[in-house]
Amino acid sequence: MNRVYIKTYGCQMNERDSEAVAAMLRGRGYSIVAEEAEADVVLLNTCSVRDQAEQKAIGKAGHLARRKKKDPNFMIGVMGCMAQNRGNDLLDKLPDLDLLVGTQKFHAVPDHLDNLIASLQGQGPRPATLVDLAEEAGSQNTIRDHVPDQRQVSAFVSIMQGCNMKCSYCIVPKTRGEERGRPIDDIVAEVEELAAKGTREVTLLGQIVNQYGIREFPFADGKSPFVQLLERVNEVPGIERIRFTSPHPSGFKQDLIDCYGRLDKLCEYIHFPMQSGSNRILKEMRRPYTIEKFRRILDAMRERCPDLYISTDVIVGFPGETEEDFALTREAFEQIGFDMAFIFKYSVRPDTTAAPLGDPISAEIKDARNKELLEILQQSSLRRNTSLVGTTQEVLVEGPAKRGEGMYLGRTRGYRKVVFPGSERLVGELVPVEIDEATVTTLTGRLVLAGV
Ligand code: 5AD
Ligand code: SF4
Repeated sequence: MNRVYIKTYGCQMNERDSEAVAAMLRGRGYSIVAEEAEADVVLLNTCSVRDQAEQKAIGKAGHLARRKKKDPNFMIGVMGCMAQNRGNDLLDKLPDLDLLVGTQKFHAVPDHLDNLIASLQGQGPRPATLVDLAEEAGSQNTIRDHVPDQRQVSAFVSIMQGCNMKCSYCIVPKTRGEERGRPIDDIVAEVEELAAKGTREVTLLGQIVNQYGIREFPFADGKSPFVQLLERVNEVPGIERIRFTSPHPSGFKQDLIDCYGRLDKLCEYIHFPMQSGSNRILKEMRRPYTIEKFRRILDAMRERCPDLYISTDVIVGFPGETEEDFALTREAFEQIGFDMAFIFKYSVRPDTTAAPLGDPISAEIKDARNKELLEILQQSSLRRNTSLVGTTQEVLVEGPAKRGEGMYLGRTRGYRKVVFPGSERLVGELVPVEIDEATVTTLTGRLVLAGV
């Protein structure tokens, strides 16, 4: 009864939450299995940011419920954003769930599973569905465990939970609650532990990382708590690279811009969500900046760090987005030249402030706008990648590449994927790789041997 499979939907926060649940379950004697078919318990860690993500998880849970009909001891849990968003209503659709756990209660999963298993084994009444969606003060401090004997060359570290922004399209403030940060010392201790186990790269995660600690911790020498945190993480021996996701253009101040080039471990890469190139739509989205301000921040960053790689999030088909609005997004896309982007088709989310606007833009128009942006993105990514052919890049080796045949995968500081012939002993090392070929997504190269 103790084999658990966790399937994760959605963002990196969710991936990190799943890892933490896995670590806590391992600590309780559960084993985490890699194949769903081998599991006694399947936990779905869900996402609500778009309807499609919810439908996928609901479909999956429905499918698992059929297995439960044949094997009544098999257990299904739904955790995370969709559990929080839909709550008990979900049980109308999925009456066979054993466990429904919200975003502030991941740490309670081991207790809940212990109790469920005990009742299955006849030591108590079997509850209908164990539902735990409560808010909990301090829950941001519970996402800190990592699976003990597993080395992660690159690890996620959750620095905060929640979001106080009010973007009109976004369900996250509802699913993740108020913004609250972990103490700097706790985060640094977690990074030190990771480094001791061989982690070389950390990605600091939060809904809006540059707001980290803004209400809890003081500024020091004009530096925000987030910049203070970056400085501390930069000092951790063994850590070679620092990334973070996601920042917000408001509150992205000079102290953070100045970190580029000053903190040697901070990579020349930023994920910087734009959402739209039209000021009118940004206003409708309740994003409190203009496209001009967005571009001024990027220009200031590029000035400090000419090699900066930039990725973004964009939504197409927000209610009322006209051809003129979209043309402005396209223009920003062309002029900024993103290296990577996540382009989303607008999806109405219940109870958001944009929900009453409905979804007036047709699927065809959203598809066409999505495709147009993708084409521009592919050109700019390919152009940037091609410019690296013939150069030598510092690559952090993550592990064997999917294509096999002795090929290994790593990333540049700019977060470009590099595939090259390697060996197991290089995993976790920073190695020089000369780039021979480039596609939109991947660079291919070979190790530069010292002294040759
Ligand atoms: N529809 C489409 N995309 C959305 N995002 C957030 N909410 C929605 C929505 N309702 C996108 C934003 C955000 C990313 C994580 O998901 O671009 O930055
Ligand atoms: Fe959602 Fe906006 Fe908060 Fe990002 S900043 S999580 S898009 S509400």
